[in-house]
Amino acid sequence: MKVLITGGAGFIGSHIVEELVNSQYEVIVVDNLVTGHMKNLLPQISFYKQDVRRNIDDLFAKEKPDYVIHQAAQVSVSHSFTDPLYDCEENIFATLNVLQACVKHNVKKIVFASTAAVYGNPVYLPIDEAHHLEPISFYGLTKVNAEKYIQLFAEIHNLSYSILRYANVYGPRQDARGEAGVIALFIEKLMRGKSPVIFGDGKQTRDFIFVKDVARANVAALVNGENQVLNVGTGQEISIHEIIEQLAITIRKPIQTTLCPARDGDIRSSVLQTSRAQSQLYWSPRYSLQEGLLETVQFYQHENPYGFQEVIS
Ligand SMILES: NC(=O)c1ccc[n+]([C@@H]2O[C@H](COP(=O)([O-])OP(=O)(O)OC[C@H]3O[C@@H](n4cnc5c(N)ncnc54)[C@H](O)[C@@H]3O)[C@@H](O)[C@H]2O)c1
Repeated sequence: MKVLITGGAGFIGSHIVEELVNSQYEVIVVDNLVTGHMKNLLPQISFYKQDVRRNIDDLFAKEKPDYVIHQAAQVSVSHSFTDPLYDCEENIFATLNVLQACVKHNVKKIVFASTAAVYGNPVYLPIDEAHHLEPISFYGLTKVNAEKYIQLFAEIHNLSYSILRYANVYGPRQDARGEAGVIALFIEKLMRGKSPVIFGDGKQTRDFIFVKDVARANVAALVNGENQVLNVGTGQEISIHEIIEQLAITIRKPIQTTLCPARDGDIRSSVLQTSRAQSQLYWSPRYSLQEGLLETVQFYQHENPYGFQEVIS
């Protein structure tokens, strides 16, 4: 079976590629490398440097994929405020383009990378898939719209889908220079010999999921169930303080933090209800926070992606 993955040279996409290869799928990666990197890809992978907002018809006609995993996106919440048009092109227009190609070339199923940002401020915790969708960023809004296009395409054209709403993803290859998660930012600061910055009192919570668990959920979604919307997280609420404490244990050094006032618009607490993904995908996260942080820190220690002097050893 052949899987075409958009954004496969990115942080999450490259881990999905590895999971697909391990599961014996034939893999085609399409990526314009706007934030992705060739070094993230296994050398044997078929790669097309192409923008999925433009014509991808020839590529689909040539490769005839059975499945599509659509990860390519504008992923920065703050950039969605400064350039909502680009965010819209990347997250809605590109998805529409991919959907049209899927229908025209008889793709069996599309698996889509959505986000907990579609929910906005949680009204209750843990957030289940029935929670209302009131995004508070353009990024969340364009992802909601992409979801709705996918669902209407499924109804009108009989294209099967899985929409996976990821919690906060962390792990090796996350780029701290872009709009990274807090864990990549903390590790980057430590590598520079600086103090991680905590906004607010550090008691704010998130659901942190290790990237390899997200990759496994994507591969499981290819063949399990259809026309489903699923939260992909751990279901565990972890505070920023707990992350710092666990990082200090991982690097075996105390960590000094810099405290800054809370930022406007930051959500206080967030955690996803993940029982639906567990029952429909026969999947559950395998990595504890300790194990995930250890692999992440080891990646930065060995790869030193920013070329800094290693200060965490
Ligand atoms: N990182 C997270 O915590 C998180 C959380 C929720 C959802 N997501 C979603 O997961 C997906 C992957 O995110 P990521 O964190 O790996 O980001 P990333 O920036 O590392 O990966 C995105 C990839 O898509 C490629 N790309 C972007 N626009 C493209 C285009 N027009 N044509 C072709 N390729 C294009 C980039 O070059 C990059 O390789 C995104 O859809 C994102 O919205 C991420």
